Amino acid sequence: MISVHTAFPNMANPLGTLFGGHVLELMDMGAAVASQRFCRNAVVTASTEPIDFRNPIHVGEIIELKCRVAWTGRTSMIVRCEVHGENPLTGERRLCTIGHLNFVAIGDDGRPTPVPQLKVETEMEHRHWETGQRVRDDLERRRSRKAYEPT
Ligand SMILES: CC(C)(COP(=O)(O)OP(=O)(O)OC[C@H]1O[C@@H](n2cnc3c(N)ncnc32)[C@H](O)[C@@H]1OP(=O)(O)O)[C@@H](O)C(=O)NCCC(=O)NCCS
Repeated sequence: MISVHTAFPNMANPLGTLFGGHVLELMDMGAAVASQRFCRNAVVTASTEPIDFRNPIHVGEIIELKCRVAWTGRTSMIVRCEVHGENPLTGERRLCTIGHLNFVAIGDDGRPTPVPQLKVETEMEHRHWETGQRVRDDLERRRSRKAYEPT
C-alpha cells in the first residue's frame, strides 16, 4: 500500500517541520488499510515497536508512506511502514522513519480471529519476515514482564 500526502502548515511545529504524532497517525491508518486488505477483516492496532524519526519532513514536501504486511501469526500481523519526505521541486528524498505496527484481526464475535499465512517468496520478503519475527520476539518479552499498574 503506497500513499502520498502533502505536508501542510497546520501539520507542522514552529520550525516548519511535521509533528511526529501526525506521521504516526498516517502510519497507523496506512498500516490498518494494508492489514485489512491482507486479511479482509476488521483490525485493531495492538502495539508498535519504538519509532525513531531520522529526518524531518518540511512544510510543502511530499510525504510518501509505504506499508506492507511483513509477518503473520495466528491472528496478528506485523506491518512494516516506511515514510519518506520528498522535495517536489528537486526530487530529493529523505527517509523519515521505518516502523513496525502490530494489528490483530477481530471477528464478528469481537474476539481475535485467524488471518491467512503470509507467502514469503523473494529475498526482500524473507528479510522483512525476519525483522517482523524480531519485533514479535521483543513483544513477547515485553508482555511477559510484570503488567502495568494503573496509578
Ligand atoms: C489486541 C487485543 C485484541 C488482543 O486481545 P487478547 O484477548 O489479548 O488476545 P490474545 O491473547 O488471544 O492474542 C491474540 C493475538 O494478539 C496478539 N497480541 C495481544 N496483545 C498484543 C499486543 N499488545 N501487541 C501485539 N500483539 C498482541 C497475540 O500475540 C496474539 O497474536 P497471534 O494470534 O498472532 O499469536 C486486545 O488487547 C485489544 O482489543 N486491545 C485494544 C486494541 C485497541 O483498541 N487499539 C486502539 C487503541 S485506542
